[in-house]
Amino acid sequence: MAIERIGMLTSGGDCAGLNPAIRAVVHRAVLGYGWQVVGIRNGTAGLLTRPIEWVALTPSETDVELLRRGGTILGSTNKGDPFGYPMPDGRLVDRSHEVIEGYNQLRLDALIVAGGDGSLHILRKLAQQGGIPLVAIPKTIDNDLGLTEVSIGHATALSAAANALDHLQPTAASHSRVMVLEVMGRDAGHIALSAGIASGADVILIPEIPYSFSSITARIDALKAHGRNFALVIVAEAVKRDLNDPQESTIHGSIGHYIAARIGALTGAETRVTVLGHIQRGGTPNARDRIMASAFGVRAVDLIAEGRFDRMVAWQARGVEDVPILEAIRHYQAVDPQGTLAHTARGLGICLGEAA
Ligand code: F6P
Repeated sequence: MAIERIGMLTSGGDCAGLNPAIRAVVHRAVLGYGWQVVGIRNGTAGLLTRPIEWVALTPSETDVELLRRGGTILGSTNKGDPFGYPMPDGRLVDRSHEVIEGYNQLRLDALIVAGGDGSLHILRKLAQQGGIPLVAIPKTIDNDLGLTEVSIGHATALSAAANALDHLQPTAASHSRVMVLEVMGRDAGHIALSAGIASGADVILIPEIPYSFSSITARIDALKAHGRNFALVIVAEAVKRDLNDPQESTIHGSIGHYIAARIGALTGAETRVTVLGHIQRGGTPNARDRIMASAFGVRAVDLIAEGRFDRMVAWQARGVEDVPILEAIRHYQAVDPQGTLAHTARGLGICLGEAA
């Protein structure tokens, strides 16, 4: 099949590194293969609207400054699954055929999507239904996609979380407080575990490892006994409250607020909470994410040139490989409680909340 014109869209929550990926795709496709590149706006939502929302992408418009720009110039959405699209009257309607029709209107020979597991699941279904030659680039700050050691956006989000702990430590020490930092990660604890190790947290709580307050307070009491006047706690957003705790229903706010309130009540420490939120998503891509995105973008275009579809580029053993999209989605990657990083944290004396 002769390729002349390919499309690209970014789907799901944005993250740092998407713009460098767009830049790499455009440079490789236009300069390497002489193809045209069409950027589809706002993920699959751009293919649902009429007229279709798209933009021609050229190397001059995707120049070097894109390497430094956070977010995605194409826009994205993490709502509106076309297979169950929420209508104003509350009904969920299958609008997948409209998305496919939109794709066909653009007269594209192939499509590249940068997305996480949710987006890749939807795009793959669309591709199968509409006969769309699809190649995927993994992106998620949560780093929970399978078969790739890293996804675009994780490194920058991790830096933001580690920097936040760096900023919290001096003020914690100045005021003799326990600082609780709540970070993103959806169902996974990768950001919390890595940032906690990188910036010297005393307690790291992640959804993959059950916690007990007795273990947390023992750690904080031990620090105090050794003359330490502060503590740093990092908690992943997916950590659950203890529903058997009689105080649970009286504490409002997120998991960070709950953990801080209970630590305060149990140890007498003064606590403060920081919920880092979307600061983890919108930052300037760090060097690692720029490199990953560039390598992924170039290889994704090469896969199209080779006629190899339904595949996702992946980082494995110091290089880019490609794997079936379906396998990447199937091998969801939570933190391994017995893996190297959990072992490292324990080896450093960091409390992971485990019962002694
Ligand atoms: O999956 C990426 C992510 O940032 C999660 O870490 C977080 O739970 C979620 O998206 C936030 O989504 P939204 O931008 O819709 O609030």
